[in-house]
Amino acid sequence: MLSRTVTSTLAISVVSWVGTMSGSAIAQTVTPEAVANVMRTLGGPVKARPSGAKGQCFVGTFTPTAEAKTLTKSVAFEKASKVVARFSVGSGNPKVMDSSKAVNRGFSFRIDDGGKGQTEFVMVNAPINFVKSPDQMLGFLQARLPGADGKPDPEKIKAFAEANPETTLQGKYLASKPVPASWVGVSYWGIHGYTMTNASGAKQLVKFRMVPLAGELGLTDDEAKAKGGDFLVDELKGRIESKAPAGFEMVALMGRAGDEKTNATQMWDDEDKRTQVKLGTLTITALEKNETCDGGIFDPLTLAAGLEGPADEPLFTARQPAYAVSFGQRN
Ligand code: HEM
Repeated sequence: MLSRTVTSTLAISVVSWVGTMSGSAIAQTVTPEAVANVMRTLGGPVKARPSGAKGQCFVGTFTPTAEAKTLTKSVAFEKASKVVARFSVGSGNPKVMDSSKAVNRGFSFRIDDGGKGQTEFVMVNAPINFVKSPDQMLGFLQARLPGADGKPDPEKIKAFAEANPETTLQGKYLASKPVPASWVGVSYWGIHGYTMTNASGAKQLVKFRMVPLAGELGLTDDEAKAKGGDFLVDELKGRIESKAPAGFEMVALMGRAGDEKTNATQMWDDEDKRTQVKLGTLTITALEKNETCDGGIFDPLTLAAGLEGPADEPLFTARQPAYAVSFGQRN
């Protein structure tokens, strides 16, 4: 077992590493703080989130189906509850273009029944993540740190991608899809494998997908360019005012024995063809002041009993502590 502190040339990325010997190689297990700190360095000196910096808070409702109870005893899936949600555009740049194809769209929401049902999800518009572990995330970010000339080194980024080919898969997925025309015109995935437990104690491995009620609404690259950099908030506002569909059906994709549980860069075999159980409808009803969402974090670990995240997946368990560090930094 190794323990050491690494001080980089960038004052902010003073990171603690805890490493373990595995054969002759050192398998590093980086701390969530380390990842959050390098994200902050890359995200710039703004008091914004270093990921999903640009976004808008909304409120709505979540109405579960009767079928949801066959899978979970969770109070969050018992009755209609209010929802606080935040849509975002990926990266730490609060001015990133809404027409940008290279970054993901984020959807964070809290199902809040005011009691024991509080349940939070932080999803993106891709079925896979761009890294499989916090260690790989730190490497991915460090490869992008600016050098002495103030610019990232394309050779370093290329070398990292070649050594870690799975880190290119999410980008390839996004590049293969049209630019989302609306925050509520694209599917979002929870990515991790969750376990639902029903009242009889039966457990089921699932992945979550939010399927847009409006359908998949995409823009060609030219259409996106013509729309400019800031159209998503107005689009959603107009949609709510005109009572056009502004919500999602939440579905559980059924897992089975042998499904990969801890590599978020991979979809399950035939994931798109899995049985889908409808869990409920989430409807966005109004814009909310951003302070409501900015006053805390959306915490993937906040899940009402009857629903569990993958406790053995470091990528999942690192999220809440990293978000908490980031919250401290942006306040
Ligand atoms: C080691 C794993 C991860 C780390 C260290 C990490 C880190 C972060 C940090 C520091 C923030 C800013 C949080 C805040 O200030 O409130 C953030 C936001 C976000 N992350 Fe992650 N993340 C990880 C994995 C993921 C995964 C797997 C997804 C997608 C399923 C994801 C999606 C998002 C989204 C959508 C936001 C914006 C949240 C918001 O709207 O408040 N992250 N992430």
